[in-house]
Order: sequence, then C-alpha cells, then structure tokens
Amino acid sequence: MTARGKIVWVSGPAVKADGMSEAKMYETVTVGEARLIGEVIRLTGDVAFIQVYESTSGLKPGEPVEGTGNPLSVLLGPGIIGQIYDGIQRPLKELSKKSGSFIGRGITTSPVDMTKKYHFVPSVSVGDDVIPGTVIGTVKETDLIDHSIMVPPDHAGGKIKSIVSEGEYDLETEMAGIEKDGKTIPLKMYHRWPVRQPRSYHTKYDPTVPLITGQRVIDTFFPIAKGGTGSIPGGFGTGKTVTLHQIAKWADSQVVVYIGCGERGNEMTEVLVEFPHLKDPRTDKPLMDRTVLVANTSNMPVAAREASIYTGVTIAEYYRDMGKDVVLVADSTSRWAEALREMSGRLEEMPAEEGYPSYLASRLAEFYERAGRVRALGSPERNGSVTLVGAVSPSGGDFTEPVTTHTMRFIKTFWALDAKLAYSRHYPSINWMNSYSGYLADIAKWWGENVSKDWLDTRSEAYGILQREDTLKEIVRLLGPEALPDEEKLILEVARMMKIGLLQQNSFDDVDTYCSPEKQYKLLKMQVDFYKRGQQALKEGAELADIRAMPVISGLLKAKMDIKDDEMPKLDELAGAMDEQYKGITGVKVAS
Ligand SMILES: Nc1ncnc2c1ncn2[C@@H]1O[C@H](COP(=O)(O)OP(=O)(O)OP(=O)(O)O)[C@@H](O)[C@H]1O
Ligand SMILES: [Mg+2]
Repeated sequence: MTARGKIVWVSGPAVKADGMSEAKMYETVTVGEARLIGEVIRLTGDVAFIQVYESTSGLKPGEPVEGTGNPLSVLLGPGIIGQIYDGIQRPLKELSKKSGSFIGRGITTSPVDMTKKYHFVPSVSVGDDVIPGTVIGTVKETDLIDHSIMVPPDHAGGKIKSIVSEGEYDLETEMAGIEKDGKTIPLKMYHRWPVRQPRSYHTKYDPTVPLITGQRVIDTFFPIAKGGTGSIPGGFGTGKTVTLHQIAKWADSQVVVYIGCGERGNEMTEVLVEFPHLKDPRTDKPLMDRTVLVANTSNMPVAAREASIYTGVTIAEYYRDMGKDVVLVADSTSRWAEALREMSGRLEEMPAEEGYPSYLASRLAEFYERAGRVRALGSPERNGSVTLVGAVSPSGGDFTEPVTTHTMRFIKTFWALDAKLAYSRHYPSINWMNSYSGYLADIAKWWGENVSKDWLDTRSEAYGILQREDTLKEIVRLLGPEALPDEEKLILEVARMMKIGLLQQNSFDDVDTYCSPEKQYKLLKMQVDFYKRGQQALKEGAELADIRAMPVISGLLKAKMDIKDDEMPKLDELAGAMDEQYKGITGVKVAS
C-alpha cells in the first residue's frame, strides 16, 4: 500500500504530514501539488516528518503527500562520469535546460541519458552461473573509464538464460536474462541503490597501499592509504579547497567524486567552471572524463546537502565495485553538519553540543566507515577502493568544536591547516606538529619495496629534525639563536631548508604542483644527509659558517622547482656536489 497523507505543518525544509501510517522510515515521498521530492526521517504513529529536497515556499497544510515505496536511491550505470549533480542526483545541466538558472521545483529528470548508446562487450555466455557482483560485460563510458556492467549486489544471481551479443545498446535494453528457480529476471545496464545503505563487498583489506597525491607534506610526512580516511580542518582561507583540488587532480585514482557541500556559490562556481577545463595530468584528457561533481551550494536546499554525501559515497562505491580506486573529497563536512543541525532544530529534537543533534557523531562514523579497500563481489576477482577525504571548517580555526573533534575519532589522517603558516604564505599550510597519519606503519612496506628500503627510517630522521627544531624554537624565542651550540644551530638551519625545500609546495607552479614518490624520497634523503654530514663536519672541526656558505644549499632549496620528475640523475648530481663540498670544508680543517 502506498502512503497517502496530508500536510499539517511546514517549517522551512521540514514538513509534517498525517495519515501516513503506511509510510516507512527513509521512504521517499512526493510532497504537495508540486510533487516536491522528500524523505521520511521520522515516523510517530501516522505522522511522518519529512525533509524536502526542494524549496518549500508556497507549500500549504492540506496539500497531499504520497509515498513512492522506495528509499532515497541513486541510479548506477554508464553516463554518471562527467556529470554535475545536485544532492539527490539530479543533473544540474538538464535541470537548467528545463527551468533556467534557478532550479524549478518538482522537476524530475533522469540522472543519465537513457537513450545514449554504449558499445557493449559481453563477458559471460548462456549457461554461465552468475552471482551478485559478477561482471556480465563492459562498455566504454568515457575515454578514461571502462565501465563494468555487474549483477547488482541485491540480485539473487542464477544461470544466464540470454545475453546480447557485442554491439551498441542504450540503458533500457535488456542485456541479459538470469534464471533462478524457474524465474527469469532481466538485467539492464543500470540499477538503483539506496544511498544510505553501504554496498556489499567480498572482503575488506588492511589499507597497505598509499594513495600517492604528489604533495610532499602529505605523501612523505602524513600519508593516506587507498581506502583510508582523512580530514583537512582549517579556518577561513587556509587552503582547504586548494588541497582538495590537488588531491582530486593528482591522486593515483581512476575516479574522483567531488562533493561541494554548502560552500558559497561563488566558490562552487570555481569548481564548476574550472573542473570542466582541467586536463587529467597523466593522460591529457579532460579531468571530467573520470570525475563526478555533486554540488549543493549554500543557497540550495539544506536537506539536499544532507543527502549529498550519501549520494556521492554510493557512486564512489559503485566504481569501487568495478575494481577501481576512487577518491571522494567533500568540501566541507562542516556545512553538511550544519544542514543536519538545521533539520534537527526544525524537528525540535533535543540539541547536544553547540546545537548539533546527538547523532552527529554516529552519522559521521557511518560516512567514514564506507571507506575501504576491498575485494569486490562476484567474478572476475578484482580489488577497488574508496578513499574519503573531508574538509572541516571550524569557525575561528578552533579545533575543539564538535564537528572537528567527532571527525577525529573516525579518520586516520589529520592534516591540520594553520592560519599562521597560511598568513606567512607557507603553503600547503599543513602544520607538521599537529598533523598525524595512522597509516605510516601500514604503507611503509610499499615505499620500501617500490621506492627505497630505508624510506621509513629516513622519514623518521627528517621528522625528528622538525621536532627538535620545534622545541629549540622556544629557547630561541627567549634567549636568541646565539645561545645555542653549533650542533643545535645546524638543526635550525636544516629545518629551515626542509620547510622551504620540502614542506612548502606551490600548487600553481608547473613543476612543483606534483612531486613523484622517487623525487620526494631523494629530496628527503638529501636533506637528512645534509644534516648528518653537517653534524660530522662540526665534530671534525668545521665551522658552522663554512656549512652555511656551501653553494649546494641553494640547489637543495630550489631542486623541487628546478628538477623535473624525469630528471632524477640531476638530483644524484646534486647529491654528489654536496658530498664534494662537505669533503672540501672538512678537508681544509684536517690539513690546517
Ligand atoms: N598549496 C598552495 N599553493 C599555493 N597557494 C596556495 C596553496 N594553498 C592555498 N593557497 C592560497 O591560499 C588561498 C586560499 O585557499 P583556499 O581557497 O583553498 O582556502 P579555504 O580554506 O578553502 O578557504 P575558505 O575557508 O574560504 O573555504 C588560495 O587562493 C591560494 O592563493
Ligand atoms: Mg574553501
């Protein structure tokens, strides 16, 4: 039975309707004469509380509310990549074609073009047994994405009764018939999936493979793993968006889901205007050929903003199930939490800290738990991952507020942006003393096998220098640098070089914007060697002034910009020059 009720109360995006005893929790409903899209978020007797994903202005008590029988779902099939969706997977371009730049209400459009034909290559034959997740064939979705057509996870599976031959088909074509217990269920290129329900997988793995972002302070100091979780908290203008863009652009993932969540319209416009022009740095094809944007700016309905992260993560899981590495970035989860707070307020729930509902923490947990590197269901065997990275914008950069503190419980990499660093134009303004990564030990093996055996040790030595500098800074502030012995002055010197030569990275410089793992390691190693050789030289009687005067220092500082990823021998030459110059200054002393 479908629920048919009547509106009794309207408050912003929240609507109460009675006569809804047939409705289920999280069922989508149509609200009012305009048939706005809404979702049941609380049921008390026959009264349903509904969050409406569209503007409710003009909605009146007495107007009808009708159940659809379905939970809030997304359509999953070819055609998703390259789209710009609102929080409930309505394609913004199609909407604006239908209703102009301000989205009209009650408009339904298909999330993808159902009539577009794709070239399908089957990978199963009549008589084959298939189970949920099994790939029945592949289509080319974009130049960069091969899209597997899979038996949906909630399908019973069975025996292939029929399968179309290789050719061009649209989304409504019945591609295969699967027989089970005498019943044949047709399979199309798409299916629907409820956004609040994680998609199932075969096995979850430990996150042991790093997600290489090409950003030195991330990969070398605070790495994130494929299938991991990370958070970028930072006050106003500290570089959250730039960092997320860098991850979206450069991370070694095949698919990017970018959720613009409640940010100001003009900032989102930058994404909407800029992204379609960006090139995928590795293939030179448009970045949109492997990107999906979900956009809900601050002037769009808040309820859709609440839904946007679930819509995004469900799409991410779908591509993961094809065996792809997917990165989802959300800017910003604080705005998402504010949407939650607004709805909760409208429903007159008991507020917890700072007015956020008491379920803020569990909702954040549910979101971040959907990250992971997994073996997908069905055959052929394939592994994919969803990595989740969320920006947090605590007001005044205060990390003790609820969204930041709760997020910290569920994520493993924390990139703390620092207003002081941003102010002094040290970018990315990730504070190396307040940030952390819980993946270091897990991914060290990968670096050891793929880049250098002593990666973890070198990284720890470098980090040790930064830590010592941090404690020395206090003494310097009180007594001045001259109070320190040469050994400690050397630490300040090397830490300064590390900040300029390693930690700072200009996203807008053609060479510096991306740094390969090998180059990251070599730069790191050279700085650590510089320090060790310096210590040794001081012991052998060299003066600190001799070390400071070494010409190689300027080379070390500029190598990040001057030496490209494919010019590694030049870095080795620089290391050689350093060696010579150290021999020079210690040699002189020994001779005199
Ligand atoms: N890695 C970087 N390299 C060079 N410049 C940077 C970098 N990161 C940030 N910036 C500079 O800082 C400015 C602000 O960055 P961004 O817009 O990412 O901040 P935000 O934290 O997202 O701000 P808001 O709080 O307004 O959302 C950028 O326009 C850019 O000039
Ligand atoms: Mg921003």
